[in-house]
Amino acid sequence: MPSPHPDFPNLRVFDHPLIQQKLARARDKRTNSHDFRRLLNEISALMTFEVSRNFPFRTVEIDSPLERTTGVELSEPVTLAPILRAGIGMTEGILALIPDARVGFIGIYRDESSLEPVDYYAKFPPDVAAGPVLLIDPMLATGGSASHAVSRLKDHGCRNVQMLCLVCAPPGVQRMRDIHPDVLVHTASLDRELNQRGYIVPGLGDAGDRIFGTQ
Ligand code: PRP
Ligand code: URA
Repeated sequence: MPSPHPDFPNLRVFDHPLIQQKLARARDKRTNSHDFRRLLNEISALMTFEVSRNFPFRTVEIDSPLERTTGVELSEPVTLAPILRAGIGMTEGILALIPDARVGFIGIYRDESSLEPVDYYAKFPPDVAAGPVLLIDPMLATGGSASHAVSRLKDHGCRNVQMLCLVCAPPGVQRMRDIHPDVLVHTASLDRELNQRGYIVPGLGDAGDRIFGTQ
């Protein structure tokens, strides 16, 4: 697991070269939607491999063909919570590693002028608070959408929430730290800044548009 970031104790940056190579391809403006989706899912799976270390596991007894032995299994139900739309672009990659995870959705978009989150949909499993929740969104920019999503999850009783994003910017990480200091943010890159339109730079553009070809 990566160490806490020196400026942001709530942040873990995955600097593994395989992840960084895939991120560079995803940033490239020549990468088409098909490859962009594939890269997002691959990076998400690689990050999940480490993030899931934090999940609760219990020891179980099993019978191999030769003898009784022990193994482990998840002891609580895991819920993935992609923020619509762009979070969908990471979900398959995570499900490939945790196929039993349930998926709850939260629909939020940023108002283009205020950059504040507008919440339009939520559907979680009734017992979403019974286990860890992984909030999924490729972009953490101002942090408005992610902090709002975590508040909605906490309204449902969730106490074990972590976030997986591809790229983040300092204002978003700081906002998460101020509002939800208990939520770890896992990312492939802490980028330099936000531009005047609230886009992450260098970033990778509008993630939802690039995933779904709606530019
Ligand atoms: C993008 C992105 C995040 C949000 C991040 O969604 O997927 O949800 O912006 O920005 P913030 O940290 O400043 O809130 P967008 O509003 O473009 O919605 P979409 O995925 O439906 O296009
Ligand atoms: N949303 C995006 O899709 N990209 C950004 O850079 C910021 C918010």
